[in-house]
Amino acid sequence: MSLEALIEYEQQQIGERQALPERYLGVSEDELDARISAARAALGDRLVILGHHYQRDEVFKYADHSGDSYNLARAAAAHTDAEFIVFCGVHFMAESADVLSAPHQRVFLPDLAAGCSMADMAAPDELERCWQELQAMGAADVVPVTYMNSAAAIKAFCGREGGVVCTSSNAEATFSWAWARGEQILFLPDEHLGRNTAYATGVPLEAMAVWDPQQPMGGLTRAQVATARIILWKGHCSVHTRFSVAQIEEVRRTEPGVRVIVHPECTWDVVRAADESGSTGAIIRQVRKSPVGSVWAIGTEIHLVNRLATELAPDRTVLTLDALGCLCSTMFRVSPNHLCWVLESLIAGDTPNQIVVPDEHKDWTRIALDRMLSIQ
Ligand code: 13P
Ligand code: SF4
Repeated sequence: MSLEALIEYEQQQIGERQALPERYLGVSEDELDARISAARAALGDRLVILGHHYQRDEVFKYADHSGDSYNLARAAAAHTDAEFIVFCGVHFMAESADVLSAPHQRVFLPDLAAGCSMADMAAPDELERCWQELQAMGAADVVPVTYMNSAAAIKAFCGREGGVVCTSSNAEATFSWAWARGEQILFLPDEHLGRNTAYATGVPLEAMAVWDPQQPMGGLTRAQVATARIILWKGHCSVHTRFSVAQIEEVRRTEPGVRVIVHPECTWDVVRAADESGSTGAIIRQVRKSPVGSVWAIGTEIHLVNRLATELAPDRTVLTLDALGCLCSTMFRVSPNHLCWVLESLIAGDTPNQIVVPDEHKDWTRIALDRMLSIQ
């Protein structure tokens, strides 16, 4: 996609971003705390705040429900009583909450600039072209599976074409679901999660092909498409692909006995070199239940790692695999100032940065998400 097309696409996806008013800048932490607490009390049951594990502590502490993207999707679907869902996370998560929530509910993302660079790597027109080209190359029995980290229009496409959504916590079960319905999977937009998951279900690397949306026919031959059990969209997470095998070797050298656990958005060689991999929820569970005295090096977003380190000290030692700390800069866009502004606006009857998935995508997105939620 050209830069101009990318900017236009992002504007369509994100909608009209209302920027934080200047009066919310420079407010002290104590004052923000008092005002957010007062706003939450005033809104009472009309409000539910959802917070992803990668949010900074100053925001995360206000979440009524925290979790990984799968659990937050479930929470959004379950809280039909609250009129306002304020989603402290990124755009694709808030879109899913809008689709899964009841018609009387409204979803807000405190800063619309909280997007996801991986989700932006798959645009609907690229997917339409890929689909047509795959069919032209003889792939007639393909089930499209999209990662939660994708725009609603991509999820809607998958719903319409008999496919489904998955998150890192249910990807294996979702792939089995898809292979029971078609010969091949087209998985997007994360090449690495797709490869790591398919391999874990027994698919050899030779039966995987990478579709490059920037190349005619994805850069693949007919034979490569025909022999693939899974076709992986060439997309990645810029945070998780920073982790390296060299970092794992270094921590094993400096911390004998350390266990390494990474998110499956990390590259293939990093997941192979680690002791374990899992979704953010799985990482938390695994480290929490480990014996006293355990030492962990974790390859995922730094806020989650630091929070776990504080929670589990001194019984367990939790380190980040990347000494410079891997921060998701779009998750970081949501600040307590934004949260305070959105809550006070809701009290005043304003609705800044509401997420509204267009009707043309809503029904099929819901079908794709409901299929995901029904897979055990
Ligand atoms: P989870 O599905 O594990 O919450 O991950 C979401 C995400 O964006 C990871 O980068
Ligand atoms: Fe997107 Fe990566 Fe940030 Fe997750 S960590 S929201 S995949 S950029």
